[in-house]
Amino acid sequence: MNLNLKDKKVFISGGSRGIGLALVRSFLVEGAHVAFCSRNQEMVDSVLTELKREFPSSTILAFASDATDPISIKGVFSAISDRWNTLDIVVSNVGDGRSTPDPLQLESQFNKTWQMNFTSAENVAREFLQMSHQEQGTLIFISSIAGLEAFGAPTDYSVAKAALFALSKNLARKLAPNIRVNCVAPGNVYFPGGSWDEKIQKDPDRIQKLIESTVPMKRFGSPEEIADLVLFLSSERASFITGSCVVIDGGQTVGFH
Ligand SMILES: NC(=O)c1ccc[n+]([C@@H]2O[C@H](COP(=O)([O-])OP(=O)(O)OC[C@H]3O[C@@H](n4cnc5c(N)ncnc54)[C@H](OP(=O)(O)O)[C@@H]3O)[C@@H](O)[C@H]2O)c1
Repeated sequence: MNLNLKDKKVFISGGSRGIGLALVRSFLVEGAHVAFCSRNQEMVDSVLTELKREFPSSTILAFASDATDPISIKGVFSAISDRWNTLDIVVSNVGDGRSTPDPLQLESQFNKTWQMNFTSAENVAREFLQMSHQEQGTLIFISSIAGLEAFGAPTDYSVAKAALFALSKNLARKLAPNIRVNCVAPGNVYFPGGSWDEKIQKDPDRIQKLIESTVPMKRFGSPEEIADLVLFLSSERASFITGSCVVIDGGQTVGFH
């Protein structure tokens, strides 16, 4: 299937590892121009060097920026706007499920999780919509199945990810037919150095049993599988899809209904 993503201009928040890095690579493979940000300057520099080696003829813009900080994200979009004028595809990927097991986290922790998982997306969406000449495009939020169901994930994370569905649906309704807005809700995604890798290092047997007993596909998803879905949703092949939340979880949530 030709996704026709060649020369599209794409921004991904949180693109230096995991799902975000798989998104950056997958869009580059399709011939898109890609801008990404993450907080750690050294990591941004080293990923950029590696990507430039892999994709010598692509345009790649990389920024050290904290997506929870509206001023920082404004600076990123202003630099992209100076260079490209506009964006075709924006993926808000920043988020983190690490929190405490309390039924309701202390206010400081709850706010931190909210900033990381919701405010970061709000900031990115606002700047995208305010970009001059922004008349067409597609916006995708990376949420989680933890926002759909309560199966033991931290409450603050689940609430923030659920709020992304509301943001996505409201924007989809209000921005149609020019801008499509969708959510992707992954289940458990493994990659070396990721949050599931940390859990496996601590207790491999427990995690293996957990995955085998809760995920019908009996395995983790990969960042590349999430990227494939996001690429399709952001392409013209998905031109009638807006306001949707697409679950990609190896069947984990099918037994909940
Ligand atoms: N992995 C899973 O099993 C899973 C499951 C469901 C949903 N998700 C969602 O998928 C998304 C990506 O998950 P992941 O596991 O790939 O995450 P990850 O390994 O923690 O990577 C997050 C990326 O975002 C960057 N980042 C973090 N905070 C940032 C901030 N405030 N501003 C800018 N960049 C920031 C990180 O780099 P720096 O630290 O250098 O900033 C990194 O590049 C998240 O929204 C997560 O909630 C993941």
